[in-house]
Amino acid sequence: MNQPRPTLTTLVREHLSRFIEQHSGVFLGPEKGYLLEHRLVPIINQYKLAGFEGLREGLIDRQDPELREKVLEAIVTHETAFFRDKHPYETLRHTILTRLAQRWQATRETLGHRPTPIRIWCAACSTGQEPWSVAMAIHEWIPLSGVSGLGLGDFAILATDLSSKVLDHARQGIYTEADLARGMTPGQISRFLNRQPGAKPTFQMKAELRSMVEFRKANLREGFKSLGLFDLILCRNVLIYFADPLKRQICEGFFQSLLPGGFLMLGAAESLFGISELFQTDRQGETLVYCRPAN
Ligand SMILES: C[S@@+](CC[C@H](N)C(=O)[O-])C[C@H]1O[C@@H](n2cnc3c(N)ncnc32)[C@H](O)[C@@H]1O
Repeated sequence: MNQPRPTLTTLVREHLSRFIEQHSGVFLGPEKGYLLEHRLVPIINQYKLAGFEGLREGLIDRQDPELREKVLEAIVTHETAFFRDKHPYETLRHTILTRLAQRWQATRETLGHRPTPIRIWCAACSTGQEPWSVAMAIHEWIPLSGVSGLGLGDFAILATDLSSKVLDHARQGIYTEADLARGMTPGQISRFLNRQPGAKPTFQMKAELRSMVEFRKANLREGFKSLGLFDLILCRNVLIYFADPLKRQICEGFFQSLLPGGFLMLGAAESLFGISELFQTDRQGETLVYCRPAN
């Protein structure tokens, strides 16, 4: 027999929305009640909870960590693709990597030895397509860089996300043909991934790329000073879900986490307009790049 569909009262919706915003930053206004219903009813059924009130009680009164993870998992959007939007990766290859490598070269000359790696942070990496795309772009660009001695080991990519589930997927670096069809060329697939046997073929990122990327759980809402300083931060297609005060707080944190002369890249539909005036902006074709001014 079909179970009766749980009903979501205004009060419980407000409690759940506040809980979700406190734990992920994702802001759900009253018009998003349908999204809560659509995404949370399967969890209510799976855990045999007494409707939305039972869910509220589990999250807020009992502070059940497993339930919290499940709910946040269900609410946040993990949509991603390899080389998403294409043009930011053109800017990465043609402008940003070139400038970072020139700085790396100048530092090497000053120090008289190899500097520490160029640090790149993908701040909401979902299932990994973005950090792997950055690693592949670097791989393709190095021979064209004109910087002698610069190698893959001179780049370190940190990729973080709120969700353990997507991070596990990202860390494995295993993708289906359908995943790869979204953004990868056949040449890139054979160059950067190993085909794994099986009825439904899957492909894994090769070891040389895997050694460039470290995956770690981090919630942007909770501060990120401990991650250290970066030459480039990509925070694409996540701030869009946050309310302005949190966007402001996170962007100010990014400014502090960038080395002078470092870059910030947001999603194609995102901007810091009305959010932060700390950065210099640099329009490269369709891509807007934010820079922390050099000292
Ligand atoms: C739409 S995906 C974007 C993935 C990738 N950056 C891209 O542009 O293709 C958004 C990701 O942000 C993560 N996310 C949401 N809130 C977060 C938070 N407070 N801290 C860290 N990651 C968060 C989600 O788990 C999700 O994987």
